[in-house]
Amino acid sequence: MASTAVTRRGDLSVTAYYTAHTWRWGKLAGAELFTGRKSRDVFNATNLALGVARLFRRDLPSLRHGLVQRHVMIDRLAAASGCAQVLELAAGLSRRGVTMSADPALRYVEVDLPAMIAHKQRLLSKSARGREIAARPNLVLHAGDATTLGLDEVLAPGPVCVIAEGLLVYLDASAQQALWRRVAALCAARPGSALVFDLVPFVEQPRPGRVGRGFERLFKRATKGATMAFDGRTRDDIAAELRAAGFTTVERIAPADAPPAWAVPHLARRTQQLVWRAAVA
Ligand SMILES: C[S@@+](CC[C@H](N)C(=O)[O-])C[C@H]1O[C@@H](n2cnc3c(N)ncnc32)[C@H](O)[C@@H]1O
Repeated sequence: MASTAVTRRGDLSVTAYYTAHTWRWGKLAGAELFTGRKSRDVFNATNLALGVARLFRRDLPSLRHGLVQRHVMIDRLAAASGCAQVLELAAGLSRRGVTMSADPALRYVEVDLPAMIAHKQRLLSKSARGREIAARPNLVLHAGDATTLGLDEVLAPGPVCVIAEGLLVYLDASAQQALWRRVAALCAARPGSALVFDLVPFVEQPRPGRVGRGFERLFKRATKGATMAFDGRTRDDIAAELRAAGFTTVERIAPADAPPAWAVPHLARRTQQLVWRAAVA
């Protein structure tokens, strides 16, 4: 099996279908533009498999509730960043760019692999509202590889809030560190910038057991070989790596610890999410 600096990611588009439908299920504005029969089928099939897994493992966190929490928390951090520019890496079928770029003073750049960007553009072209959104000069959909892209090339001058949602878990430690070094250098050159991403250390996740291993096999098949980055790094290890990459401020926020004003939903549910914010003072 080919092994590179980056964990084998296969084709992660199926995960973007799942999250797109999760944003719709969570009643997040703009999600309806990026959902349809395929995302609904992926959402229902995945939830069915997870429901079966939960019959054997009552302690498993709820994926969809946790994902909505994560997405809302990242929305709040992006809004609070004060940056007039957002760069979302591996944006997939996220509806965040559509809602934030309704403010013409904010420039929103989404990056994903060419097939996903083309798919997103196709979805937008289907409705008058989607076409109006796609025509916004302050919304840029850029086809590229987030792990190699020259970040400055797609940005206007000034501070930027860089978002990487649902990506880091598929990168191995060295690929994560490489991304952090690139973004930290960007933040250092653009005072007021920040990086926001989600990552639950593998060591904190429930041990898979036999059912979980079956789910992992299904996931690998659905994503044509993608695997998650399994390693023994703790939260403190990750924080130390972010500092070594050049960040001077590192915060991590679990849904239960978010400020009440963020109105993070589903706090009574068992979920597992951790959102990070890193910046250079
Ligand atoms: C789990 S989805 C996350 C989508 C979105 N951020 C969300 O949370 O709804 C993963 C996304 O990463 C994209 N992706 C995977 N590898 C990538 C890479 N090297 N560069 C850019 N995008 C990538 C996939 O195409 C997919 O859209």
